[in-house]
Amino acid sequence: MGKGFDAVQANCLMCHSFGYILNQGPQSKAFWAEKVQKMIKAFKAPIAKEDADIVIEYLFEHYGNGREK
Ligand code: HEC
Repeated sequence: MGKGFDAVQANCLMCHSFGYILNQGPQSKAFWAEKVQKMIKAFKAPIAKEDADIVIEYLFEHYGNGREK
């Protein structure tokens, strides 16, 4: 599934299932960036900056709506 999927698996699925991501439906890049920041700030997810960027790209590519904002 590639590098992006590995990053999602390693950084996002330790607390909850992929369903949380799928349930959001197609969203903008800003939306995904905000969610990743929320996980880090509100829930103390231990995600490195490089990984956060890879995850955001992956989510936008696969679960994006084509809009930056
Ligand atoms: C440290 C634990 C933790 C990690 C790691 C984590 N999350 Fe979450 N996530 C949560 C919690 C807690 C909730 C809220 C659960 C609830 O409201 O029932 C949540 C909810 C969500 C939601 C639902 C929408 C919302 O705003 O509540 C999305 C989307 C989501 N997470 C995406 C991600 C993504 C993408 C990653 C990886 C970058 C990630 N999560 C990593 C803890 C985590």
